Amino acid sequence: MSATPGWSRAQRRLHWWVAALVPLTLGLGFLMVELPWRPLAPKFLAYQLHKSFGVVVFGLVAWRLLLRWRRGRPAEDAALPAWQRRAAGLVHGVLYGLLLAVPVLGYLSAASAPAQVPTMVFMLLPVPHVLGPDEARFLLLRALHLWLALGLVALALGHALMALRHHAAGRPVLRGMWRG
Ligand code: HEM
Repeated sequence: MSATPGWSRAQRRLHWWVAALVPLTLGLGFLMVELPWRPLAPKFLAYQLHKSFGVVVFGLVAWRLLLRWRRGRPAEDAALPAWQRRAAGLVHGVLYGLLLAVPVLGYLSAASAPAQVPTMVFMLLPVPHVLGPDEARFLLLRALHLWLALGLVALALGHALMALRHHAAGRPVLRGMWRG
């Protein structure tokens, strides 16, 4: 597929929505597990909000990948050495993989939890659990969900720092994702 002249408005909006929602979902994840069990309502609502944001992230990333597949993306800056362009492509691929894997692992761990708390997107849309409760599976999926979420945020921070470095060096990478 030939390179596009720039990111489309939809591609840019999706990028920044996902960039805002991931740290919010991560912070809410840490907060909700620390909340006391009594009163139950704030803990329950925090879990539902966390799961809802996570489901939204999954949907937005799937939409981004569809747009990228159908429309393509602008070429990497030809002034960069080939190894840097390859490394950027690899980081972007791993980021997409983690952005899909973390919500899926969260969903599967919620479905495996012995407590069997329902998953309701914004308290409106029930999401059926495809797996039954299983404590051993829950503990494994929960650990994977946590560690891959931390890996995702670490990689996203590295990605943001590289974008800022390119920006400081006068390359239009960040401007391109902001204004097209
Ligand atoms: C970008 C998306 C997501 C991120 C970054 C994320 C991140 C996190 C983090 C940091 C925790 C705290 C882990 C701990 O301290 O043990 C957590 C817990 C949890 N997440 Fe997510 N999450 C995401 C999406 C989801 C989704 C889509 C669901 C379910 C539909 C989900 C379900 C859960 C559950 C059930 C727990 C708590 C497990 C427990 O009770 O200990 N997450 N998540």
